[in-house]
Parts: sequence; C-alpha cells; structure tokens
Amino acid sequence: MHVGIIMDGNGRWAQQRGLIRTQGHLEGLKAAKRIVKAASDMGLQYLTLYAFSTENWKRAAEETGFIMGLVKQYLRGEMNFYRQNHIRIRHAGDAAGLPPDIAAEIATAAADTKEFSGMQVILALNYGGRDELVRAVRRLAGQGHDMAAVAEEDIAACMDNPDVPDPDLIVRSAGEYRMSNFLLWEGAYAELYVSAKFWPDWTGEDLAGAIDAYRNRSRRFGGIAANGG
Ligand code: FPP
Repeated sequence: MHVGIIMDGNGRWAQQRGLIRTQGHLEGLKAAKRIVKAASDMGLQYLTLYAFSTENWKRAAEETGFIMGLVKQYLRGEMNFYRQNHIRIRHAGDAAGLPPDIAAEIATAAADTKEFSGMQVILALNYGGRDELVRAVRRLAGQGHDMAAVAEEDIAACMDNPDVPDPDLIVRSAGEYRMSNFLLWEGAYAELYVSAKFWPDWTGEDLAGAIDAYRNRSRRFGGIAANGG
C-alpha cells in the first residue's frame, strides 16, 4: 500500500500557541519522524511526504531556509534508523531547483539506502504535480519520442519514481479539502482522507485511523485487491 501525506497546519499550530511559524515546522518534523516509524512498524510499503512544494518558495526566505535546514538535519540524523528498519529514501520533485547542498544530501541518502527492502519513504521536496508532469514530457521529448503518439504508459514511465505504485490513499492534515498540486498524475484514483488535526499533533494512531477509514471505504465498494499489503 502507498500512502501520500500532505503535512499541513504547522503554521497554524504555532500561531495557536503564540509561537513563530518555524517552531511549528520543528514540531512538524518530529511528527514526520513519528509517522515514518509508525508506518514502518505497520508494514506499509510506500509513504510519500509532501515536505515542500514548488509554490512554497513564495514564503519568506527565513522560513524556506529553515525548512531546508530541517530536511538536511532529518536526513543526516535518521541514517541509523533507516539502516535498522531497512528504510529506503527517495526524492520526488525538481532536484535542479533545490539548494545544491540539499540536493546533494538527498542524493546521498537515496544512494546509501537504495538496497534497503523495507518501506520506501519518498520525500516530495520542491515538488509540484504539474511541474513533475512538465518535466516528464520534456524527458519524453528529449528521448526523441513521437509526441503525437504519446500514451499514458509513456508519461507514467517518465515520472520521478516510475516504479513506485500509485498512491492508494492521500491524507491531509489541518482540515483543508485541497490537493495543492500533490501527486496529480499518480493520485488519479487515490482515496482521500482529511483530518482536522494540525500536522504537529499527528501520531501513529492518526495514521492508523486514516488507513482504517480507507479499508472500510474500500470494503464497501468491493475491490479487495486494492487493499493488498
Ligand atoms: C505545511 O504547513 C507544512 C510545510 C510547508 C512544511 C512541512 C515540513 C515539515 C513537516 C518538516 C520537514 C519534513 C520532513 C519529513 C523532512 P503550513 O506552514 O502550510 O501550515 P499553515 O497552513 O498552518 O500555515
């Protein structure tokens, strides 16, 4: 099973407590660690975390810099945990548009974990669904593909992680009913689950609740196979 998460509400979480936004992101990182651990313990196969969108660059440099710093800290600090849990790290998004040190960090984490056969964590960083589609089309054209004869499979094969199955479930925290440019192509048939809880408050139980809701929903509509794994 593949779950994608739109980790929203860090800013509101902080605001509610009279804290600065970056404090919310710091707590958001802690929540991401809890969720990765819980997902791995549950035996989930694929988890995509929307950590930074192509649109997030519109925010103040202080905030974007802080989030990038957190990503670096996260990747460095969790290596032992990945090794122990056989977690493979991958990237979705435009690496060329990331600060070079962050792109290098993520490439290193991906290379160091690429043989691990446990859960795959896909970090969506400088990611936009439309941007991914545009880059896929450019890759196809670059391969000299006959663009007038292009098929769905050709585009799918040029996405950032073509071997990763489409998400079965897309979860969003903090109550907004929006896709926000997340996995637009891959999420065409994903079930959606929105929770009012702000991301920094998320625990493994919230993830389990989302997956339970998905399973019940799927069971109602048939499709046992879609639940597999
Ligand atoms: C959305 O909350 C959250 C983000 C834009 C950043 C998410 C980043 C992290 C949780 C840290 C990095 C994570 C990993 C896994 C390396 P918001 O700021 O849009 O909240 P708001 O809508 O309440 O303002």
